[in-house]
Amino acid sequence: MSSVVLDKVTKVYPGDYLAVDRLSLHADDGEFLVLLGPSGCGKSTLLRMIAGLEEITEGDLWLDGEMANHLPPRDRDVAMVFQNGALYPHRTVRGNIAFPLEIAKSDPALVQERVTELSKALHIDETLDRKPGTLSGGQRQRVAMGRAIVRQPKLFLMDEPLSNLDAGMRTELRMEISALVRSLGVTTIYVTHDQVEALTLADRIAILNRGVLQDVGTPAQIYNDPATAFVAAFLNSQQLNLLAAGVRTPQNQYVQLDFGPHRLTMPWSDPRAYAISQHTGGQVLVGLRPDGLAPVPESYEGPSFYGRVRTLEYHGHEWLAYLECGMPAVPVPEPPDPRRRAGRDNGGRNGSGRVSGLVRRLFSQEVEHQEQEQVGANPNSGIHRRSDLIIRLGNRPVWRAGDAAKVGVDLSRIMIFTMDGARIDPPRR
Ligand SMILES: Nc1ncnc2c1ncn2[C@@H]1O[C@H](COP(=O)(O)OP(=O)(O)O)[C@@H](O)[C@H]1O
Ligand SMILES: [Mg+2]
Repeated sequence: MSSVVLDKVTKVYPGDYLAVDRLSLHADDGEFLVLLGPSGCGKSTLLRMIAGLEEITEGDLWLDGEMANHLPPRDRDVAMVFQNGALYPHRTVRGNIAFPLEIAKSDPALVQERVTELSKALHIDETLDRKPGTLSGGQRQRVAMGRAIVRQPKLFLMDEPLSNLDAGMRTELRMEISALVRSLGVTTIYVTHDQVEALTLADRIAILNRGVLQDVGTPAQIYNDPATAFVAAFLNSQQLNLLAAGVRTPQNQYVQLDFGPHRLTMPWSDPRAYAISQHTGGQVLVGLRPDGLAPVPESYEGPSFYGRVRTLEYHGHEWLAYLECGMPAVPVPEPPDPRRRAGRDNGGRNGSGRVSGLVRRLFSQEVEHQEQEQVGANPNSGIHRRSDLIIRLGNRPVWRAGDAAKVGVDLSRIMIFTMDGARIDPPRR
């Protein structure tokens, strides 16, 4: 068993590509930590730096309290499982799982005992004498996992081990990984881009985007109280409604979020009102989950929006309604492009001196472009991707396309962010 500490770890790839940016994170002894994020956000890079397969450009890695930046991979006592579960094709399942113990010249009786025990736990005891070529994808991944864990490493690293499997097999193996790893008590860092895998497996989840850590916490913490608009949107199975609003505090009576054609009022008694009022005169982003909105009758006097139902969408277990109500949706703010960031002038950081004049020019154009986009986030300027509010209707739609409709807003469920996407209203954590 082992603990892992990453302290401001940075990875710059050749070409000034900033794949991981000053990331600090820890995994406690015996913890199951999931790294979650979209493809290309730096998850594998991070895992490979922990394994010693990739050099750390800057920052420190500590394994079990020991500085490990330059520790050779074989001295880290780390086992890794990859997406494609590469096995030795000419060895049987038994031979594959036993291999790391044979290399370590373990007692053959002990080897047999471990292989038998693990193959039962992984439900591959029937396949022990077969070659990998005769196995299904799920079975191959089980063998790869058995081989990785057989020498009882201090740290278990898994890089999207289920993403090549079909949905049914993924669910089955997901539960087995969870049971196996927890029964062994091995510290595990598990990489995935699948939010369901992360929410179901993790003790804690760390979410990355473009090499930047966005949030870390238990699944319930980051789902209920996401630290950024990106996290709120990424963990949403339906699309998150993200709207720009002006903040007002008329005669200091209450806090008002002004969406243009619609307004929401928050009394001072609301614990979030003070933090939001700090942005009076400016703009904020308001995140509303489709299940925090509900149809209400015309006579409803609570917080609400109104509009026309553009279309209804059937999802089997529920209907979603798209309501046209004159409030432009805002794209989710993201960190700057890693290609440009690595070349920024950042006070002597490695790599900053290597940037060419051309890249620097591109970078400054990008900044200008972003500033224009910021201006574009003004609700009246109209350069937005979509302008429909999405509402979850359950399995009996009360509306039809074309209906005029009123939507009640559960004020306790709205989330307020700066225009850069950082959470404003204090999370309840
Ligand atoms: N050896 C490399 N050289 C240059 N760029 C790389 C290298 N490996 C990965 N990258 C880039 O770094 C970014 C992060 O990659 P990766 O860590 O594999 O992301 P993820 O695992 O989250 O999909 C990607 O944009 C990728 O193209
Ligand atoms: Mg990857």
